[in-house]
Amino acid sequence: MTFIAESLSRIKPSPTIAVSNKARELKAAGHDVIGLGAGEPDFDTPDNIKEAAIRAIRAGETKYTAVDGTPALKQAIAGKFKRENGLDYAPSQITVGTGGKQVLYNALMATLNPGDEVLIPTPYWVSYPDMVLLAGGEPRFVEATAETGFKLAPAALDAALGPRTKWLILNSPSNPSGAAYTRDEMKALTDVMMAHAHVWVMTDDMYEHLVYDNFVFSTAAEVEPGLYDRTLTVNGVSKAYAMTGWRIGYAGGPEDLIKAMAKIQSQTTSNPSSISQAAAVEALSGPQGYIAERAAAFKERRDLVVDMLNQAPGIHCHRPEGAFYVYPSCAGLMGKKTPDGKMIESDLDFVTYLLEGAGVACVHGEAFGLSPHFRISYATDSAALREACGRIQRACAELA
Ligand SMILES: Cc1ncc(COP(=O)(O)O)c(C=O)c1O
Repeated sequence: MTFIAESLSRIKPSPTIAVSNKARELKAAGHDVIGLGAGEPDFDTPDNIKEAAIRAIRAGETKYTAVDGTPALKQAIAGKFKRENGLDYAPSQITVGTGGKQVLYNALMATLNPGDEVLIPTPYWVSYPDMVLLAGGEPRFVEATAETGFKLAPAALDAALGPRTKWLILNSPSNPSGAAYTRDEMKALTDVMMAHAHVWVMTDDMYEHLVYDNFVFSTAAEVEPGLYDRTLTVNGVSKAYAMTGWRIGYAGGPEDLIKAMAKIQSQTTSNPSSISQAAAVEALSGPQGYIAERAAAFKERRDLVVDMLNQAPGIHCHRPEGAFYVYPSCAGLMGKKTPDGKMIESDLDFVTYLLEGAGVACVHGEAFGLSPHFRISYATDSAALREACGRIQRACAELA
């Protein structure tokens, strides 16, 4: 018998973190590895945000704060929701946690009873199913394949919602596919949700600001006010403001749910870092110009990567609307053999071949629930991306 709780046997460690670690180890051992596994912007946090944090330290803002966020930060978040999403959330409807990750987890912990189901479109962000399992619920999946641009079809959603479904998780733009729903596409999904009154919507809008080609972001409660009372709108500063290490995420939603989430946080981690909260106030209320500048840089990289991958034999890469990921198919390479005679039978085999044979680290699609694909993060400089995609092209050409 093991000392470790049985519930832990239901979950696995984050496979994306595992890939980053493996790439880091190989690099440390002197191998020439280009890491395309990371889920964070390569840009630095803007100076005005850093300065706000330094000011907060000097001003002695170094004590516990209100459990789920300072009044100043809740005010800034309310302002952001109103300004950017047309959503009215009072401070009492807002919660702040240690990253979007904690906010999502709190919401699941606060709502799931044993046997409750959470519907997750595939491909999904790796943490959703395991968080649901940790919270005692059952993840259920519905496919959104490359044929629909990795977007959930309304009829598929309708068919997948069952009597035990408690939440639908929507993540647009998506990690890992980059797919983002237009307003019309979102409306078609919210129309379906309107007919299933027992199901709530958890929208993970973390990549809201990373959209390209004049794409207009929209979120469920904005598109369908009828869902406002059963939607949790989750967001954060990690991706938009290059603040992954600061650990601030937040959500707006019905007050009862927000209170229940704060109750969990009060008995686990208490408030997120006081300094990070001060920095997040500046991020959300200060100048916003760099968001567009950075999005322009990401768009260029997306186009570079998509174009080069589509020239690799056996790879097909859809051009997504947002985030900093692409999710190419490697179906055309299944059954081929590597130069040293190994058969490629899965996307895991393929990414292992890329890492060991070409020095490129990316994540296999199985980790995100849709195979045979792999995820490339283009949150790295163009020179490295060009080199990496060249290596992938050569590695694919060498398969026989
Ligand atoms: C889709 C998605 N949601 C949530 C998160 C969590 O972000 P954080 O906890 O840094 O706010 C991530 C981070 O990778 C993500 O990709």
